[in-house]
Amino acid sequence: MTRNVVISGGGTGIGLAAAQMFAADGDQVLLIGRRGDVLERAKVPGALTYAADLADPEAVRGVAGFVAREFGAVDVLIHSAGGNGLLEPPVGGDDPLDAVARHWTVNFRLNLLTAVLLTEALRDRLAEPGGRVLFLSSIAAYRGSGQVAYAAAKAGLHPYAHALARQLGPHGITVNVVAPGYVEDTAFFGDGMDEERRAQLIAETSDKRAGTPGDIASNLHWLASPGAAHITSQIIQVNGGAERGH
Ligand SMILES: NC(=O)c1ccc[n+]([C@@H]2O[C@H](COP(=O)([O-])OP(=O)(O)OC[C@H]3O[C@@H](n4cnc5c(N)ncnc54)[C@H](OP(=O)(O)O)[C@@H]3O)[C@@H](O)[C@H]2O)c1
Repeated sequence: MTRNVVISGGGTGIGLAAAQMFAADGDQVLLIGRRGDVLERAKVPGALTYAADLADPEAVRGVAGFVAREFGAVDVLIHSAGGNGLLEPPVGGDDPLDAVARHWTVNFRLNLLTAVLLTEALRDRLAEPGGRVLFLSSIAAYRGSGQVAYAAAKAGLHPYAHALARQLGPHGITVNVVAPGYVEDTAFFGDGMDEERRAQLIAETSDKRAGTPGDIASNLHWLASPGAAHITSQIIQVNGGAERGH
C-alpha cells in the first residue's frame, strides 16, 4: 500500500536518506526545508517539495494547506529538520549575553519549535490507525556534549514525544524518537569537521566507525513499519555504543 510520508529536512542528510528509502517502497514523499533549490535537487523519485521555515507558524500553515490538498491523510511524519545553529547567519550585536540569548533561541527554533509546529499543524491528518510520528533527537541530549543549547533543545523533544504518544496511542498512532550519534555525509557540520575531532568521535564508539544517514534512515523506516506497531514512546539510540563511552 502506498503511504503518504512527510519529511522535514528531507533535502539533505538523514532526511534525504529516509526519503529515498520510503520512495523505494513506492511511497509518496513530501520533502520540506527552507531552501527550495536544495529540495528540487534532491534525488527522490516522484517526491513533492515545499519550501518553508518550519519555525514560522505562518509558513507551517502553508505546509498544512499543501498537505491537505495533495495528501489528505499523512501516514508517516518524520521530523529531520534541525541543526546546532552554527551555520545560521549571525545577527545582532557582540554583547556576550545577547550572543547567548541568540544561540539558545536559534537552537530552540531549529530543533524544537520546527518539530512541534509541524506536528500540531498535521496531527489531525495522521492516519488512524497506523499513523507514525518520528522525531530526530541526538546523543547530545543524553550527554550534554557538543553545543549545550543544541543538546537541551533536542532533550525537549523527549517529553513532547512521550505526551504525544499517550494522546495519539488510542487512535492507533505511534510516536517515537531516534537519537543518532555522530553521522557523516550530512550537511550538519557544514564543510566538515577537523580530523582530530572526527577521530575522537569514532573512538568513542564500540564499532569504531561513524554513523551514516542510511544507519538512521533504516531505523526510521523500521519504526514506520507494521512490525513496529506496538513500539511507541521510545527513544532509540543509534550511535555504535558511543553513549556508553568505551
Ligand atoms: N549529523 C549528525 O551527526 C547528527 C547527529 C545527531 C542528530 N542529528 C539530527 O538529525 C537531523 C538531521 O540532520 P542531518 O545530520 O541530516 O543534517 P542536515 O543535512 O543539515 O539536515 C538538516 C535539514 O534541516 C533543514 N532545516 C533546518 N532548519 C529548518 C527550518 N527552520 N525549517 C525547515 N527545514 C529546516 C535543512 O534544510 P534548510 O537549511 O534548507 O532549511 C536541512 O535539510 C537533525 O535534526 C539533526 O539535529 C544529526
